[in-house]
Amino acid sequence: MKNEDVEIVKRTLARIIPPRPEGNSELILQRYTKALYEANKVLGDLFYARLFEIAPETRELFKGDMEAQNQKFVNMLVLLTRSMNRLHDTLNTMQELGVIHMKAGVKITDYQPFLSALLWSLRQKLGEEDFNDNVAKAWIAVLSRIAGIMVNAAYPEARGITQAEETANNATAAEEPPPASASNDA
Ligand code: HEM
Repeated sequence: MKNEDVEIVKRTLARIIPPRPEGNSELILQRYTKALYEANKVLGDLFYARLFEIAPETRELFKGDMEAQNQKFVNMLVLLTRSMNRLHDTLNTMQELGVIHMKAGVKITDYQPFLSALLWSLRQKLGEEDFNDNVAKAWIAVLSRIAGIMVNAAYPEARGITQAEETANNATAAEEPPPASASNDA
């Protein structure tokens, strides 16, 4: 994962998660949260539809109604946005997140369709020109790193980050042409 990859992912995220407005009043925060949710409803719907199509077994993990799910989807994007500015400081958070997922019943094999559905829905939403192969490659590199940290912390039997990266790369192999260079060069 290169710095350039992080910058590309940040730019995509800035389009779907605009920066928080100035001020900390309850009203400002409420409005901002609602706007984020409204703006990303379509993306959330696309994501879950795709995920449940390619990995129907993951459906039972998501217990809330669609509204609650979409809200959590936005929360995930917000967490990713925050992490991008200080990826090396979020190691503990990502490790804990991995363990929480494992305890919620998420399997190591669920990461592949999850990442694949996320990339697919971003491409649908932003268009092939903006979410082009170069952008997709950057997303794969960054998400593979994060998924690798989560998986390594949660599944001691896993072979390590390389396996998670392989998993994530396979996730997109079905959709995207293979990246021109390996993404685990950081
Ligand atoms: C890069 C990988 C991932 C990241 C960064 C991530 C992030 C998150 C975050 C931040 C939450 C908490 C949302 C909230 O409660 O507000 C969450 C919840 C959840 N995630 Fe993930 N996740 C990842 C991978 C996965 C995978 C592979 C699955 C399985 C298909 C999954 C399934 C879930 C479920 C079931 C919840 C709980 C939803 C609920 O409480 O109803 N996640 N995730």
